[in-house]
Amino acid sequence: MPKLNSHYGKLQASYLFAEIAKRVEEYSTQNPEKSIIRLGIGDVTEPLPAACVEALKEAADELSKRETFKGYPSYEGYAFLRNPIAQQDFQDLGAEVYADEIFVSDGAKSDTANIQEIFAEDNRIAVPDPVYPVYVDSNVMAGRTGLAESGRYEGLVYLECTPENNYLPELPQEKVDLIYLCFPNNPTGAHISREKLTEWVNYALAENAIIFYDAAYVAFIRDESMPKSIYEIPGARKCAIEFRSFSKNAGFTGTRCAYTVIPKELQVGGKSLHQMWFRRQATKFNGVSYPVQKAAAAVYSEAGQAQVKTLTDFYLGNARIVRESLNGFGLKCTGGDNSPYIWVQVNGASWDFFDKLLHNAGVVCTPGAGFGKCGEGHIRISAFNSRANVLKAMERLQKVF
Ligand code: MLT
Repeated sequence: MPKLNSHYGKLQASYLFAEIAKRVEEYSTQNPEKSIIRLGIGDVTEPLPAACVEALKEAADELSKRETFKGYPSYEGYAFLRNPIAQQDFQDLGAEVYADEIFVSDGAKSDTANIQEIFAEDNRIAVPDPVYPVYVDSNVMAGRTGLAESGRYEGLVYLECTPENNYLPELPQEKVDLIYLCFPNNPTGAHISREKLTEWVNYALAENAIIFYDAAYVAFIRDESMPKSIYEIPGARKCAIEFRSFSKNAGFTGTRCAYTVIPKELQVGGKSLHQMWFRRQATKFNGVSYPVQKAAAAVYSEAGQAQVKTLTDFYLGNARIVRESLNGFGLKCTGGDNSPYIWVQVNGASWDFFDKLLHNAGVVCTPGAGFGKCGEGHIRISAFNSRANVLKAMERLQKVF
């Protein structure tokens, strides 16, 4: 009889957003007349930028002709996409990243989940708490933890992010090998200053640790003093891997495209992580489709840049409305200024609050406890929705409060 991966038995029954979807589905089946506004999962609602749509159509036409047809893409992505990424997302900021250090992929979720595969099982892992559940669950599946107790897995080092430290993780007090950081943060919306990020890079260099830096929400940064890439910090090329996504800037949650940067000089014990990841991708991944990479490349055109700015400004406008409304109801919030997420302190258990908003207002949020122990007493509200729905949701919440 085949044996199963027993580590799956340590996981909570369902993935956070699957659990929310299940509860919302149950509620809506029992109350078919009730309209529901989803401010839970960070899924975009506005159409793709026009420049991306045009590029998708042109690429589809190319595939219809023998002379311009394309088969398998390269494992790392087409140069027409990797070149502008290197130039505009990094070099223009003074960050040293080269096109051949970029791996185009189908999502930052898959990359942040899979990256642990190239590291040994007995690495000590640090994660912020609250945390995007993918970082934790992928390590649980890989057998790097013991059992969960009171919402925490034995063997992981949790970096507490609370109102007292403005939701910014502090340097670990014990030796760790791999550190997950996400800025602007999911779920808290907090962002890190250049000085604080420099402390992390210096720590990782001194302790021979690697930072996994998830910058999926970078397009929402409006405060120019804040770092957009960890490679803006000297020394980061020797200790950090960065993850980016087209999901939240250009609305590709359904279209799927992202990328990961692994600098050539990033090594562990003389072994190149870049080469190891290439080996992994070449074995397990066959690249992102040509039309989707063409659409992603259009983000870097002049028109694409302007359209992405309009799109992210739009969601930030929603975030401002949410934040101001909640403040008006007397709730304390962070995020929503350089982030599409608003992290709200609530009285009591976050799943109770989730139920209260769903049942009394037909508004879906994400309960903070789903992101970890320190998420308890909080909910996350996503600004990804139409303006009309956000306004309607705030009107309904006003009645609840
Ligand atoms: C979220 O809501 O946290 C994100 O949409 C999840 C994701 O990007 O996978």
